[in-house]
Amino acid sequence: MAYITLCKHKNLMEGELAAFSTDDGEVMLIWPDDGELKAFQGTCPHQDVPLWSTFNGRIVTCQFHNWVFDGRTGKGLSPSGCELKQYPLRIEDGMVQVDMMQVDLTN
Ligand code: FES
Repeated sequence: MAYITLCKHKNLMEGELAAFSTDDGEVMLIWPDDGELKAFQGTCPHQDVPLWSTFNGRIVTCQFHNWVFDGRTGKGLSPSGCELKQYPLRIEDGMVQVDMMQVDLTN
């Protein structure tokens, strides 16, 4: 386990996405409407570039070529068959921590 601290939990809002560049790579925190906070890879599986994205509270859209992902699961909606890797996330002393060396397979 190699958790790194990204930010204060209280600075995040439901329905929003926050992107971070770390020594371990790009990571996104996504808190979907009526969902729970999750951490996903911050690169697009299409061309492995940092995901320049928009998020409407449910759906993440890569602005380069409009691939679309479910913000709750990271699964590709258009096209299907792709997905964003999910990383284990924990809250410690009010701080959001993510382990980018592991992949969370709970979805
Ligand atoms: S790089 Fe994201 S859709 Fe092409």
